[in-house]
Amino acid sequence: MSTPVDVARFLPADHDAAMRRTVTDVMANLRGSMILGIGAEVRALQAEGREVCNLTIGDFRSAQFPLPTQISEGVLAAYKEGQTGYPPADGVPELKAAIAALYKRKLGIDYGAASVCVGSGARPPMYATWRLITRPGDRTVSFLPAWNNSYYAHFCETEHEFVPTLAENDFFPTVEAFAASLKGTRLVVLNSPLNPTGTAVSRDVLTGYAQAIVDENRSRGSGRPVVMMFDQVYWLLTAEGVEHHSPVALVPEVAPYIVHTDAISKCFAATGLRVGWGVMPSYMQGRMKALIGHAGSWAPRPEQLATAWLLQRPEQMDAYIVGMRGRISDRLGLLYRGLQDMKARGLPVDAIAPQGAIYMSIHLDLIGRGFDTNEEIRSYLLQKAGVALVPFQAFDMPENSGWFRASIGSVSPEDLAVALDRMETAIKARL
Ligand SMILES: Cc1ncc(COP(=O)(O)O)c(C=O)c1O
Repeated sequence: MSTPVDVARFLPADHDAAMRRTVTDVMANLRGSMILGIGAEVRALQAEGREVCNLTIGDFRSAQFPLPTQISEGVLAAYKEGQTGYPPADGVPELKAAIAALYKRKLGIDYGAASVCVGSGARPPMYATWRLITRPGDRTVSFLPAWNNSYYAHFCETEHEFVPTLAENDFFPTVEAFAASLKGTRLVVLNSPLNPTGTAVSRDVLTGYAQAIVDENRSRGSGRPVVMMFDQVYWLLTAEGVEHHSPVALVPEVAPYIVHTDAISKCFAATGLRVGWGVMPSYMQGRMKALIGHAGSWAPRPEQLATAWLLQRPEQMDAYIVGMRGRISDRLGLLYRGLQDMKARGLPVDAIAPQGAIYMSIHLDLIGRGFDTNEEIRSYLLQKAGVALVPFQAFDMPENSGWFRASIGSVSPEDLAVALDRMETAIKARL
């Protein structure tokens, strides 16, 4: 065989200029994730032998948050049985039926399997929702802070408005602000329980949002309606006493305008398995199926079969979720109490009591006290205390507000106890 072509020799020297000349502006200008950047910094410190309590990533360490054994064993069994061909583009029938049954049982909404479209995690159905509903230049809306909407808006070239919210409203918009944001809007995105804040929308407020959508669309007559993508990827992980509802259960007339997006990623500590879905009006499902099919972004068949097996067994599924909630509340509870104790000792720290998901909103009131930006605070805590947090800027909230996200998916209660001590020492050293 002749000498292999050394491809790099034939490429232009200025890679960035060549990339910009070759790919579209939309792709050339797509930003990277700030959280992944912080994660790289954490790993560099760890490689130097530094102990870091990594509260940055919205993922799980399986030693702390194991997969349901029914899923891990089910996946292996399906591979061994040779279940390795293409699945139907919108999911295997068993899984679609199991998801419809789950929503009927736990959310009180009976869509039927024909309304379910499975994808490889929540992201493909989310991206597909954006593609289905928006055209370039359309007005789209989401609320601050929240995860990843800016990327979808960028891909779809929409005129996106980020509507601010207040900490005292748990970072959800008031019903009035929500209703006002719908004017001229094609797609509004709501996530609850909310990443990054760990808060959950209340029943009354969600009812108000749903009614506002119905009213807005009534006023549009036969014009194009506003649709809400309701991202409920953390919905089984609510804190004790906190309820989760679908807007469709609260105001059934909103059903034509809601796409639920969801996955096993978070509630079953299965981020790497890539099983998610959308649940929507059945007349939209075929369009989402077409997009998922052409992109090839379906979930692997063994993972789908194993997920279906567990969802079809409510007792086993619920037992796993009880354990999952317990592991989360052990960690978030410890973190919350630790921060409240620091506050009681006079430190300028606070947090919002956990309501759902795997996150906590932490407020470090240090701006103007030796720090000018969230980034300075983040970097100081990482270097001095070995505590890695993510500023809310990573969730599109531009202000240096002193708000940070802590994610407990990869830490033990013991890790947290030690980290809280280090954090207190580091903060005191700068006061
Ligand atoms: C709020 C929210 N929605 C959706 C997703 C995407 O989930 P998946 O990994 O299933 O694509 C995430 C992941 O971090 C998330 O935080």
